[in-house]
Amino acid sequence: RKPLTLHRLREMHARGEKLTMLTCYDSTFARVLDEAGVDCLLVGDSLGMVLQGASSTVPVTLEQMAYHTRCVAQGSRTAWVIGDLPFGSYQESREQALRSATALMQAGAQMVKLEGGGWTTATVRFLSERGIPVCGHLGLTPQSVHALGGWRIQGRDERAAATLREHALALAEAGAAMLVLELVPTALAAAITRELSIPVIGIGAGPDCSGQVLVLHDMLGLASAQPPRFVRNFMEGSGSIAEAVRRYVGAVKDASFPDPALHCY
Ligand code: KIV
Ligand code: NA
Repeated sequence: RKPLTLHRLREMHARGEKLTMLTCYDSTFARVLDEAGVDCLLVGDSLGMVLQGASSTVPVTLEQMAYHTRCVAQGSRTAWVIGDLPFGSYQESREQALRSATALMQAGAQMVKLEGGGWTTATVRFLSERGIPVCGHLGLTPQSVHALGGWRIQGRDERAAATLREHALALAEAGAAMLVLELVPTALAAAITRELSIPVIGIGAGPDCSGQVLVLHDMLGLASAQPPRFVRNFMEGSGSIAEAVRRYVGAVKDASFPDPALHCY
């Protein structure tokens, strides 16, 4: 496989191919996921929970994100590497966001992701205009879990849905090259995906997004607590981690995951 570029991801999206993404935090998994055909590796700040054992992503620092981004970039040969800007590293000013994004890009990220809508539009424009591919993240935005009042589905009532949709359109207009939608009703995610020309990657957002993402440790069945309903354990029935990841890629590509009856809202 040739290295994925934004151009190639856009071509795949344009011909209706579903995009596959998993979180990844180290070089060994980066190699395994890359060889199994995962399109995008997200160095997610979920590493605060999955690797560090914290109860949210809030404690994660930029230095930690840069370290893990470097590890993943070392192991990935062809996958598109996205680094999460952690809590507090982009909220202060557009200039702060540029400095933080620079640290992740220099560590090997090809795109950075930041959470939130409305106020983030100017930041996304600022970074995009300066040559940094940006992925937005709307719906349940874990860095705001304390403000949101818990891990709950977003955009349920009509007003919240309209705001989410406006935020998504504004991010795309500002130059975001990709958007993650987390924990939103299937119908809302489908409507936003139809309206935007950029790829929309869903997690707990139904089968109609342009692609899917899961936390690696969740889809390998390693989550300690009861995982959220949108997770499927791909280790079940797989003989190896590589096989589980190949089955995930296959299930996203042929749109058999997520299953509306099991994994959606
Ligand atoms: O950090 C992360 O794992 C994420 C995904 C859940 C989208 O942001
Ligand atoms: Na994240």
